[in-house]
Amino acid sequence: MSLIQEIELLQAEASGEILSARSLADLDLVRGKFLGKKGQLTAILQSLKVLPPEEKRTVGQKANEFRAELEGQLLKIREEIEDRELQSKLSSHSIDALQPRQLETGRLHPISRVQYEVEDIFTSMGFSIMDGPEVETDENNFGALNFSDDHPARDMQDTVWTEDGNLLRTHTSSIQVRAMRILKPPFRIIAPGRCFRYEETDASHDNTFYQAEGMLVDRDVSVAHLIHVMKTFLSAFFEKEVRVRLRPGYFPFVEPGFELDINCLTCAGKGCPVCKHSGWLELLPCGLVHPNVLKKSGIDTKIFSGFAFGMGLSRLVMMRYGIEDIRHFMSGNLRFLNQF
Ligand code: DAH
Repeated sequence: MSLIQEIELLQAEASGEILSARSLADLDLVRGKFLGKKGQLTAILQSLKVLPPEEKRTVGQKANEFRAELEGQLLKIREEIEDRELQSKLSSHSIDALQPRQLETGRLHPISRVQYEVEDIFTSMGFSIMDGPEVETDENNFGALNFSDDHPARDMQDTVWTEDGNLLRTHTSSIQVRAMRILKPPFRIIAPGRCFRYEETDASHDNTFYQAEGMLVDRDVSVAHLIHVMKTFLSAFFEKEVRVRLRPGYFPFVEPGFELDINCLTCAGKGCPVCKHSGWLELLPCGLVHPNVLKKSGIDTKIFSGFAFGMGLSRLVMMRYGIEDIRHFMSGNLRFLNQF
């Protein structure tokens, strides 16, 4: 049998199969059988290479005509099937135009919700809300915060840099710097925002997360003021008396720097799996603003001093709702989000 005859046979076979196709899946099968990678027409087209020029031309032409015809038929029948499916759907679903439609109402993301709550509590204590950009300068994110040039946190591992030498802020502390430049002391600010780190993710680390920075600059500010404000905030937030303790912590922009812990809210400090039986939960780093930081931003340290803290907002939300994995927040997963 010549190749031309073979093509004619295939043509007849394909037409028959297309006409008896009842669904889109049937059509896909036909397409695969003739035009797929291992399809019969595909095989013929591939065999053209080895034919003498004259035969290549005639067989090639025939094969291409067949292909065009097949594509056309597939398309036409596809439209017919789709049309039929639509008609049958329309006739089986009647619409009552007078029924009220069930509209999905939107809601706040749990982080926004807690952010607004935190803002409310701090504004009730006289703090103003500050914002800053997510793309920052090296100076605002590190330099002005007393990070020496070789501080490990500047390492490329932790920071996402832009090609022009800026970065995605790694913490909201950059907003402290902006506040000191814009506001005249005394001032108190709370600055929630999204931060970014170049790191492996796990249940408690994500490359994108939220913090809320706080800063108060005034005359004669001491650790006692810091503790009082933190205790007042935490007791309002958790709606119960919260005890705190400070442990030394190092951050270049505070001196002294602390890790502030709260008594475990699950066991009231008696010891349980949540606090790993210590009775305490590590909550937020804080400290008295390093004089270098104040001076760099033009604040007279003979008159003014201050405290600052960096709250993990994502962490706070996890504690509030008992969320076990930080990666849920940015997942866009509605099954997670619809719970709030
Ligand atoms: N910016 C720090 C971080 O993300 C946290 C921090 C520590 C903020 C001490 C502060 C502070 O304001 O005083 O790791």
